Amino acid sequence: MNEPAAPFSFPAGPRGPMPWHAAQFARDTWGFLASCRERFGDTFTLDLPGGGKWVFLTDPEHVKQVYTGDPRIFHAGEGNSILLPLLGKHSVLLLDEKPHLRQRKLLLPPFHGKRMAGYEELMRQISRDTIDAWPTGTPLKAWPQMQAITLEIIMRAVFGVQEGARLDRLREALETLMAEVTKPRTMMLIALMGEKRFARLPAVQRRLRAVDEVLMPEIAARRLVSDLDERNDILSMLLQARDEDGELMGDRELRDELMTLLVAGHETTATSLSWALERLVRHPEALQRLQDEVRAGESDEWMTAVIRETMRLCPVISITVRELQEPVEIAGHRLPAGARVVPCIHLVHRRPDLYPDPDAFVPERWLGQNPGTYTWIPFGGGVRRCLGASFALFEMKVILGEIVRSMDLQTTTAPGERMRTRAITRTPGGQAEIVVARRPEVRAPEPVAVAAG
Ligand code: HEM
Repeated sequence: MNEPAAPFSFPAGPRGPMPWHAAQFARDTWGFLASCRERFGDTFTLDLPGGGKWVFLTDPEHVKQVYTGDPRIFHAGEGNSILLPLLGKHSVLLLDEKPHLRQRKLLLPPFHGKRMAGYEELMRQISRDTIDAWPTGTPLKAWPQMQAITLEIIMRAVFGVQEGARLDRLREALETLMAEVTKPRTMMLIALMGEKRFARLPAVQRRLRAVDEVLMPEIAARRLVSDLDERNDILSMLLQARDEDGELMGDRELRDELMTLLVAGHETTATSLSWALERLVRHPEALQRLQDEVRAGESDEWMTAVIRETMRLCPVISITVRELQEPVEIAGHRLPAGARVVPCIHLVHRRPDLYPDPDAFVPERWLGQNPGTYTWIPFGGGVRRCLGASFALFEMKVILGEIVRSMDLQTTTAPGERMRTRAITRTPGGQAEIVVARRPEVRAPEPVAVAAG
């Protein structure tokens, strides 16, 4: 006779109704999560919007169980559904199982680590064009500047460098749309109305149309060019990509994936860069060492350490979410279908057993040390690990390198900036304020090579 299944149970968590949990989580994500771990241990349950309970996991073994688990059981699409109005239903971020794998395979080639060198000149030029205009001696909010640089880079990497006027329209439409959808009241509205009804609101439709009015003709026009196979922008590559059955992507699919790359690919990177600057101006020795390394142009060991440490301490995305399609036993609890399991990037990165003095910014900890697959997870993991991770790491090195190579930044003893929630990302509350102290007479020579990863 079969053993009766164990009853369902959830790890302990704070009391209070769902809106209270949601408000704490939105207001002070990092503080709230830290206090939950202190009270309830490595695994705890929160009642957040979206149906089932959310079980937070901070032990790398449990994180591994989720990231390497059967994609039929651990669905991410439902967990990311808040992005549906923006990205569209074909987005790789919103699909699961076979359709997800198909889109992921189609999207992978342009993001292969080996291709990164091809984007270097573009990244360098765009960074210079922006930072050369920065004033000296007055406070400057770095975050909008980083946003402008990374948006320009991803737009040009996606569409190619030639498309001037159309890119101007796209930039404007995207900036307006992003400003609207990342407002706290918009997030609240989506949570209350559900994403499908929200997407049908006339104001939302209007803003999405403005973006589509650039994207769709661009796709149609690009299909007609005769030198597609000689172009190396991402759109041209995606137009030629075929799935296992030899099928090309349709226009709607392409639109949703372009939108995914444009949205997922710039704000995250800009925010990570802003945190790096926020940390560096408060750590004069680390900043000086970075400047020396970049100006010598011989190695990027310290740069790599600075970026890894920034992404450990200030992960832009604090959690990844999977919705269970079948009961699963995890962390000693049998969880029902519908529950959400949540590898908690922020808390894994603050484990003192993995990272001694976990709240301190210590790039030295990465010298001679590679990140662990389930202990350093700013890009998530498994079959859904960030497609743009190599691109983002490479881009951060180029942009940060250009900044410290071409100017001296003033250091500060001001307290660190608090985390502010912006849609699903966590940004520096003061927008990473910096002061350019001085520009050297001559720009230091370019580094010989910038390694990805
Ligand atoms: C510092 C910058 C970035 C961070 C911190 C970041 C973080 C993440 C995380 C945590 C995930 C996993 C979500 C999950 O498991 O549910 C993810 C997925 C993804 N990211 Fe990124 N990302 C960054 C940059 C980029 C860039 C530059 C691109 C593209 C140009 C990109 C495209 C994507 C895509 C397409 C996915 C979905 C992968 C899938 O579902 O198979 N990201 N990213």
